[in-house]
Amino acid sequence: MHILVTGGAGFIGSHVVRHLLHAFPNYTITNLDKLTYAGNLANLKDVESMSNYRFVKGDITDAAFLEELFAGNRFDGVIHLAAESHVDRSISSPVEFVMSNVLGTVNLLNAARVAWEGDFEGKRFYHVSTDEVYGTLGREGMFTETTAYDPHSPYSASKASSDHFVRAFHDTYGLPVVISNCSNNYGSFQFPEKLIPLFINNIRHNKPLPVYGKGENVRDWLWVVDHARAIDVIFHKGATGETYNIGGHNEWTNIDLIHLLCRIMDRKLDRQPGTSESLITYVTDRAGHDLRYAIDASKLQRELGWVPSITFEEGLEATVDWYLSNQEWLDEVTSGAYQRYYEEMYAGR
Ligand code: NAD
Ligand code: DAU
Repeated sequence: MHILVTGGAGFIGSHVVRHLLHAFPNYTITNLDKLTYAGNLANLKDVESMSNYRFVKGDITDAAFLEELFAGNRFDGVIHLAAESHVDRSISSPVEFVMSNVLGTVNLLNAARVAWEGDFEGKRFYHVSTDEVYGTLGREGMFTETTAYDPHSPYSASKASSDHFVRAFHDTYGLPVVISNCSNNYGSFQFPEKLIPLFINNIRHNKPLPVYGKGENVRDWLWVVDHARAIDVIFHKGATGETYNIGGHNEWTNIDLIHLLCRIMDRKLDRQPGTSESLITYVTDRAGHDLRYAIDASKLQRELGWVPSITFEEGLEATVDWYLSNQEWLDEVTSGAYQRYYEEMYAGR
């Protein structure tokens, strides 16, 4: 099998590439990535010299480039993760999200359709999406695969749009697609604009911890390696045209999670209990901030047998350890443009 993974230099993509290279040494994995601020080849240093791994730098908004790439390779499958992924950035730059997430996905679907036309047998286009397309929950209930779409941020609207295009290519052209919608991921190699790595990095530097609103929003956290395992299972065993929700059944209010993280950081950094908590600063809420996400992943468990492999407590400890022992990686990705981003994003909040 030759699989094209898009966005493989990003957070989740790098874990997917690593997982596939180790689990399927007889597959060829081509990683296509534009290397935006979020894409970093250092995320794949441990596997880059494997003989079945290839990297191609390119932009999925460039249809001609994709056409050439598909003409020059016989891909059996696509696992599509490339996207702009940060909600706050989508609020300040919505058009970039339309370009990469909507146009980029349509270009990729079209390139696969043309390359595989007349011979869809054994082919698969896997679109990696998010639970944010479902909108927000009140205090009760969970998102299932049949929950109506109701996105609120430019990011989630762009992902919802891309999901619709994937289904349209299945229904219109018969493209063999499968979609998954996953909850919040955490783990190594996550760009420190997202809550967990941002707060670990800020605690390390004794910087304020900007909690949006009252910190009452709820997220459902899953270890990124378990997401990569789920993608493997769905790619190989999922039914064509189906959607699978992925989640760890692990809801936390932001403020409870932040308190837990602060306690772990005090212990790891050998600081007085309460040192990290004193950095908590309540700031202006995110616009359109969804209150609660919670995933019902029972279809995936029942039909394909996937369950998370570790508890949140184990995963969070391991994640903190990883960031503390990979300070060079953190320092590298937070140098340069990151500082400007940080000042602009949090100025006046
Ligand atoms: P990320 O921002 O860490 O990585 C995205 C990658 O895509 C980067 O390597 C970037 O360079 C690449 N990319 C962006 N635009 C591109 C373009 N136009 N052409 C080629 N490459 C491009 O994102 P992530 O958190 O790893 O998310 C990966 C995917 O999973 C996204 O589609 C996201 O919507 C989805 N997802 C993320 C989460 C989460 O918690 N992070 C949860 C559910 C679903
Ligand atoms: O649910 C899946 C989604 O999870 C993915 O599709 C997105 O790509 C991913 O970025 C993530 O979106 P969130 O907006 O939930 O993640 P983020 O880490 O940005 O924020 C998590 C929560 O923490 C959210 O309620 C906002 C809050 N927050 C975030 C930041 C960055 C803060 O309170 N302060 C902050 O500085």
